[in-house]
Amino acid sequence: MKILAINSSSHGTKGATQLILNPFLEGARKGGADVDTVFLNKLNIKPCLGCSKCWVKTPGFCVQEDDMGDLIEKLKTSDLLIFAGPVYVDGISGHGKLFLDRLLPLMDCHLMVKDGNTRHALRIPKFPPVFGIVTCGFYEKDNTYIWEEHLKRACKNFSTEYMGTLIRPSSHILFWKKDYEEAIGVILKAAYQAGEDLVSKGRVSMDIVDKVAGDFLSRDEVIRLSNAAWDKQLRRAQNPR
Ligand SMILES: Cc1cc2nc3c(=O)[nH]c(=O)nc-3n(C[C@H](O)[C@H](O)[C@H](O)COP(=O)(O)O)c2cc1C
Repeated sequence: MKILAINSSSHGTKGATQLILNPFLEGARKGGADVDTVFLNKLNIKPCLGCSKCWVKTPGFCVQEDDMGDLIEKLKTSDLLIFAGPVYVDGISGHGKLFLDRLLPLMDCHLMVKDGNTRHALRIPKFPPVFGIVTCGFYEKDNTYIWEEHLKRACKNFSTEYMGTLIRPSSHILFWKKDYEEAIGVILKAAYQAGEDLVSKGRVSMDIVDKVAGDFLSRDEVIRLSNAAWDKQLRRAQNPR
């Protein structure tokens, strides 16, 4: 199985999303997958011009010359797309949205009704199924709701299957490994298991999803510790030595 993993965070390799994506993909490799990881923050992907040339003048291809053409070719030959990223202002990050918009050349201009909804026909034989991995800063899991719904709707748009989501709220606490090594280890181990199960069993159980999203600090503790960490950064920035 060929997996294309997309990290849509501005932090790329150094971010919280990658802390979950890394063990997940290790598990996927253990399950037998061949994984190609792409960091959108490293690529030149311009916004969709909305010009419809990819439908009419150069069907199937965008007229813009940037990194999206190569990425679409990778997608076409993948069996599974892992779309990973942070919540930015309640939704998908700018990098992620640019990527999704620029998938328009994969659609045909003509409209049809599919499962009761108006859709475009797909120009390619099959869009790979999609699995989402999302991290957010706030404590409550429902902060990832719009991100997840957006990705699910995009899958309907691309006539493909949505295979599930790993959610990690209060994502910054994953960087506090020195203080919470054991609890963070449980989360990362579950992310690894999720990757292995998705490839070898075709699904991730709710038990594993819950472990990745699991609390080990109360909301008040997360707020207190986070604010203390910000105060420390503020003091350092204002009194550099
Ligand atoms: C521009 C911006 C907007 C954000 N908006 C939200 C938000 O609406 N809700 C939330 O829970 N976290 C929000 N966050 C926090 C990120 O979702 C969180 O830190 C995430 O795990 C970062 O992942 P990354 O390090 O891989 O980029 C925001 C962060 C940034 C930079």
